[in-house]
Amino acid sequence: MRHFLKETDFAPHEIGAVFARAREFKRGRGGRAPKPLAGKTWALIFGKSSTRTRVSFEVGIHELGGHPIFLNQGDIQLGRGESIEDTARVLSRYVHGLVVRTFAHRDIERLAAAAGVPVINGLTDFLHPCQIYADAFTAAERWAGPKGDLLASLRGRKIAFLGDTSFNIANSWIVGASLFGMRLSLSGPPAHAPGREITALLRAEKLPVNFEFTPDPFEAVAGADLVYTDVWASMGHEEQAAARRARMKPYAVTAKLFAAAKKDALFMHCLPAHPGEEVEQAVLDNPRSVIFDEAENRLHVQKAILAALAKNPKA
Ligand code: CP
Ligand code: NVA
Repeated sequence: MRHFLKETDFAPHEIGAVFARAREFKRGRGGRAPKPLAGKTWALIFGKSSTRTRVSFEVGIHELGGHPIFLNQGDIQLGRGESIEDTARVLSRYVHGLVVRTFAHRDIERLAAAAGVPVINGLTDFLHPCQIYADAFTAAERWAGPKGDLLASLRGRKIAFLGDTSFNIANSWIVGASLFGMRLSLSGPPAHAPGREITALLRAEKLPVNFEFTPDPFEAVAGADLVYTDVWASMGHEEQAAARRARMKPYAVTAKLFAAAKKDALFMHCLPAHPGEEVEQAVLDNPRSVIFDEAENRLHVQKAILAALAKNPKA
């Protein structure tokens, strides 16, 4: 069974095809588009809040001819202790695929192992692969232009990632940068430096460990083509928000820090943002900020991912 739990679940040539398909979807969202999910139902099981992921998947499944069902994890028996495996087995008897947002990455792996249908990772504490595919596509659109080679335009580019460098978005960029041949410089408090788990994943996937970590944010952004940040207190870290605000303040993407990157550097944020914390409003409003293109591209890229997984007869 084919799943999309991590960036490497598509081979490089398949990612090229996913990006090409996303570009087609973006150009022609109309009713004549193919409907690879016609007659199919996909369930979304979410254990955390969501605006972009939930809505882009619900709209995307609908636009591909399918029917989405949203299940709040707390409202189904999973929230009352029914096992992950039984939930996966039962839902697989009804639906053709699952999009899951949860805490422990191990839980989505268990669910996928028991499911008889494809499972897509809609964010775990460890990885957010749909986000990084959409982000890479967004940068590539700018760098490759309307007809250029999207994946080739990423190679050799430098990303600076500031702030919480040990959680899902940073981890996914560590995998993504290695996969796309980009250079990645992460900068944050040393206590939040990337963990061993993500390096272990790179090794297991036979990808080069090509990121660097520096406590100096200006060193990280020097020569960067793309400056990226994420919230300082992710979902599940709310009680640490004040301590993290104090610790991560030097890593805020201020106008001054953004100006220290390349003159044509892009700014990205997965959103939701907290203006005045991890990023200044002036940077969010900068003409080189592509935050809403990233959000839009979640839809087009995820449709391409759904279409690729739906090739499987059971999806
Ligand atoms: N970026 C992202 O995944 O946003 P949501 O939490 O709103 O889905
Ligand atoms: N790191 C953030 C990303 C939200 C899309 C979180 O996990 O809350």
